[in-house]
Amino acid sequence: MYNVAVVGATGAVGQKMIDVLTEYEFPISELRLYASARSAGKTVEVNGQSIVIRELTDAIYADPIDIALFSAGGSISEQYAPRLSEQGVIVIDNSSAFRMQEGIPLIVPEVNRVELSPERTLIANPNCSTIQSVVALAPLAEVYGLTRVAYTSYQAVSGSGQKGIDDLERGARGEEPTNYPYPIYDNVLPHIDVFLENGYTKEEQKMMDETRKILNAPNLGVTATCVRVPVRNSHAVSITVSLERDATVAEVKAVLADAPGVVLMDNPSELTYPTPLDANGTDEVYVGRIRRDDSQPNTFHLWCVADNVRKGAAANAVQIAQCMISQTATK
Ligand code: A2P
Repeated sequence: MYNVAVVGATGAVGQKMIDVLTEYEFPISELRLYASARSAGKTVEVNGQSIVIRELTDAIYADPIDIALFSAGGSISEQYAPRLSEQGVIVIDNSSAFRMQEGIPLIVPEVNRVELSPERTLIANPNCSTIQSVVALAPLAEVYGLTRVAYTSYQAVSGSGQKGIDDLERGARGEEPTNYPYPIYDNVLPHIDVFLENGYTKEEQKMMDETRKILNAPNLGVTATCVRVPVRNSHAVSITVSLERDATVAEVKAVLADAPGVVLMDNPSELTYPTPLDANGTDEVYVGRIRRDDSQPNTFHLWCVADNVRKGAAANAVQIAQCMISQTATK
């Protein structure tokens, strides 16, 4: 049994981490919840037990913690995660602070759990859109090899935390946005995270860089356009993938139907294809609309949908924790 901490326990992802830990019956001896001074002293009901939120301070270094799940933003992770992991705490960090650092595993269990080892106690949880995309791409990479990936994402407002959901609801009431630069209600914004010098947004750059790292394919051609859409929850990604070896549509479907974490929902004659409403509240990655892109050799289109707060963040983090404890002797 393990003492587990959730840092950022009052946030959209933090709250979901608590739910998933409970649902998965994670072997917890004590659950410790941390947030800012604003939330300290409030209580949260978990499994019929009332847990008091603690203020995150340096006192955490002396607290009895085996595993810490961080989702309180990059600067909090930078401040606390390295020292905790040096002390031997297994830290799983949902921020982008450490994802591209050499030597830090960036893990999607269905894809690259072999990168985990008991000595590497600081582990990064990837970007939400990237997680669902690589779950669909990894089995194709293994069987056929990949040469190029082009993403267009349709990302829900819950990816911005409560602030994004508030802006959607505000817009529905005819009020001005306070989180996004333009209304998200009745609109789509080709803008997620900040713009970089190369013209891409940081979200797009994360998808490109993290895909290469997770698939262990440093030379893979990857491009991305990330779009915020007026959907409350669950991201969709349109993926155009070019393979090294050609396949038929039926073969691609068969590989995906057998792939871990993937649910194939692809039967156009019965209007079967995944939408965000299908994915909400689940931890699978749904794939449909599989068809050949005849404009390029060995190329296919996939439509890929997943719950961004669960598989894209909280559930993936808890699944990493499960992998780590299965590697070490049970306490
Ligand atoms: P709090 O609710 O006390 O502000 P979200 O991404 O949904 O906005 O959630 C962010 C999470 O990070 C919340 O749990 C928030 O706690 C927490 N957080 C923000 N700033 C700090 C801080 N300085 N110290 C600890 N937790 C923080």
